[in-house]
Amino acid sequence: MNSKNRFPTQASMIIYFLKGSLKYFLLGVLFSMMVAFLDMINPKIIQYTVDYLIDDADSRMPFYMELIIRLSGGREHIRGHLYVIALIVAFIAFLCAVFRYLNKLFNSKAAEKLIKRMRDKLFEHIMKLPFAWHGQHHTGDIIQRCTSDVDTIKVFLSEQLTSLFRIVIMIGLGVYFMLQIDLKLTLVSAAFIPVIVMYSLFFHNKIGSAFMKADVEEGKLSAIAQENLTGVRVVRAFGREVYERERFEKKNDEYTNMWIHLMKLLSAFWTSNDLISGFQGMTVVIYGTVLCVQDEITVGEFIAFVAYNAMISWPVRLLGRVISEMSKAGVSVDRLRDIMNAEAEKYSESTEKPDLSKDISFRNVSFSYEKDGIDILKNVSFDIKAGSTLGVLGGTGSGKSTLMYLLDRLYELPNDAGHIFIGGVDIKNIDMHYLRENIGLVLQEPFLFSRTLMENIGITQNKADIKDIKRAAKMASLDDTIDSFDAGYETFVGERGVTLSGGQKQRTAIAQMLVKKPPIMIFDDSLSAVDTETDAKIRAQLDGNLADSTTIIISHRITTLMHADHIIVLSHGELIEEGSHEELLKNGGLYRRIYDIQIQGGGEDNEAE
Ligand SMILES: Nc1ncnc2c1ncn2[C@@H]1O[C@H](COP(=O)(O)OP(=O)(O)OP(=O)(O)O)[C@@H](O)[C@H]1O
Ligand SMILES: [Mg+2]
Repeated sequence: MNSKNRFPTQASMIIYFLKGSLKYFLLGVLFSMMVAFLDMINPKIIQYTVDYLIDDADSRMPFYMELIIRLSGGREHIRGHLYVIALIVAFIAFLCAVFRYLNKLFNSKAAEKLIKRMRDKLFEHIMKLPFAWHGQHHTGDIIQRCTSDVDTIKVFLSEQLTSLFRIVIMIGLGVYFMLQIDLKLTLVSAAFIPVIVMYSLFFHNKIGSAFMKADVEEGKLSAIAQENLTGVRVVRAFGREVYERERFEKKNDEYTNMWIHLMKLLSAFWTSNDLISGFQGMTVVIYGTVLCVQDEITVGEFIAFVAYNAMISWPVRLLGRVISEMSKAGVSVDRLRDIMNAEAEKYSESTEKPDLSKDISFRNVSFSYEKDGIDILKNVSFDIKAGSTLGVLGGTGSGKSTLMYLLDRLYELPNDAGHIFIGGVDIKNIDMHYLRENIGLVLQEPFLFSRTLMENIGITQNKADIKDIKRAAKMASLDDTIDSFDAGYETFVGERGVTLSGGQKQRTAIAQMLVKKPPIMIFDDSLSAVDTETDAKIRAQLDGNLADSTTIIISHRITTLMHADHIIVLSHGELIEEGSHEELLKNGGLYRRIYDIQIQGGGEDNEAE
């Protein structure tokens, strides 16, 4: 990672995410401390009740207890009014309940605020990341990070970290009260603490990798399910249901067995852990009885001690697990840090907003997707006159789409790899939002959202005018089709537009772009799925309505391109021919050959190689 990292450490990112929720976390911890403290008072009350009220022992009593007893009317008075003790216990229980409620309230408030901020900030950042970054990352992985890793961090901060506070406070207070009773007995009890914590830490660290594996298996299982759901048409079309079902069942089996194995390990752990804890309790009871018989401690103190010992037993057993699980959150933090540290597109560095209805020139453009990878475009230069139409022909993978991504700055042209100018201004200096707003790019693979046709067509605008939408639909020859739907413009388009035909989808994408009336329009193979007649109709509409716009049409079909003012032919990233339709025919090069195959060969469906 580079030195410009926004979050150089894990802590720096956690602090960033905690903004706005930290105060609630602290309040939660405060109330949890109060609950722990109040919990610890009950054994004391039992101790004093046994020693001073039931028995007559005269032993060390803290000044505040003496004060409370004196204020309540003295020992004899309380003996006659035992309900006072019950009232005190009830009052403590009530306070405890209130504090516990406040603890839960602030904790959940903090957790929800935290997770909201994490989701918002991640989404905001991911939206700013360059096209190239999205090309290198799997959508499934990004979603997994934004859901389960976000959850892990939430659990870490709102449950594990607060548990750790509570556990440490409970153990601390417990040991403190035990020390007040007897040093030797406390030492016996405390001697078990490191053993239990280390055992649990060791076990959970060991089992941690198995949990990770289970996570990976779960990811694979959901990937299979997701793939099959999105690709259900392919699965059905090729009759692969049985194969896919068996593949899923096999993975599911592996996943289930993994969990059964994990559960066996966990059961063995908790049972052995129970055994050690039981042994500790027993030792404390035996040694405590001895001390009690020898009059070193009172009966009340013995009962209180056993109660404290039991109270810290659970936190001690949890400590190892919490520490081990907390260390796993580090992986999730790093996975999110990867996203948050990825460099966003630099919108602010280019600020010029020139008139874009000017000549466009590509000058010695070379480009490779990977650093030091092979050149996809090799020294390409050509011009497009303002308001004219450029046709681009070229075989599959020859770099046509790449040229357009560069013009739209979806990928950034490196400094030493040529220049693209619009009206003489290098596009690197043009404000990126402004540039993209004014270049209407119909992508080769149109993507439609699961919204209505109206919303899909108007998607490029915050609030598109219905008139504009209808005008665009008409230009894209989509109006008749839409009118034939029962719900018209309100027809709901299924996920990724599955309820539309290929040609309808393409025309929706074209209409999407036309709503904007951009000065530069790019059709990347956008008419491939419509019949030749509709293709001609759309082009005629565009010529009539948007004659001023500079138009770039990429196609494998000569009939789509032949009316363009100028045509370039790409082959393996190189510009090998250019000129008008007639000039190219005369040249007798690749264009001519494709023309012969498509037109003279009798089938317009024979497309560029
Ligand atoms: N995101 C990417 N990362 C790496 N290589 C890529 C990427 N996109 C495209 N390529 C490669 O770049 C080359 C040119 O791709 P491009 O999409 O520009 O071709 P094209 O001329 O539009 O082809 P087609 O007619 O099939 O759409 C291809 O060899 C392709 O494998
Ligand atoms: Mg392409």
